[in-house]
Amino acid sequence: MTTPAGIAPAVHQTVMTQIVLPQFTNAHGTVFGGQIAAWIDVCAAVSAQRYSRGAVVTASIDQLHFLAAVKQGMVVVLQSQVNMAWRSSMEVGVRIEAEDPRTGSRQHCCSAYLTFVALDAEGRTRSLPPFDPGADPEARRRARQAEERRAMRLRAREARQRELTGS
Ligand SMILES: CC(C)(COP(=O)(O)OP(=O)(O)OC[C@H]1O[C@@H](n2cnc3c(N)ncnc32)[C@H](O)[C@@H]1OP(=O)(O)O)[C@@H](O)C(=O)NCCC(=O)NCCS
Repeated sequence: MTTPAGIAPAVHQTVMTQIVLPQFTNAHGTVFGGQIAAWIDVCAAVSAQRYSRGAVVTASIDQLHFLAAVKQGMVVVLQSQVNMAWRSSMEVGVRIEAEDPRTGSRQHCCSAYLTFVALDAEGRTRSLPPFDPGADPEARRRARQAEERRAMRLRAREARQRELTGS
């Protein structure tokens, strides 16, 4: 579904739920951070694929800060959408909440920003449809902040390359 303003958010918004089963927990009975990171990557990849209608790879995951421990038996709800797209890369934002199955109350436990790159059948980067946040103030805020984060990522990437080449 595309609109005059580009690809409609409903196309790439993704919701994923997971029950915290015993195999996902540590010795304290709370979920492993690495397990949450894996769910984040999957949820975000679905948004990126829906936006780009093809293969994508994770280029980077920004910092993860776990704000609250999630206990066994809780329901983890992940919600993602593409915040902004450039030539071949796009930023996906993911919000992670822990839902108490007895009360339905939810607690924000983590947010994440990932960059995915769209690839063609030969593994080369391919162009994405232009991103248009439309008139929704929330989507416009996300897009603006995504531009700022991208600038920081690209500066960090250049610094890493300079370090590697010694130039
Ligand atoms: C991601 C990857 C395709 C980028 O390839 P590359 O040769 O560096 O390609 P480019 O320099 O042309 O960059 C392609 C795009 O990715 C962006 N990009 C590359 N590395 C990035 C990073 N670390 N963070 C954010 N964006 C990045 C570039 O800005 C560019 O964006 P644009 O086309 O929208 O302007 C390549 O590094 C790769 O395949 N990495 C492994 C991915 C993978 O296997 N992930 C799974 C986990 S291991």
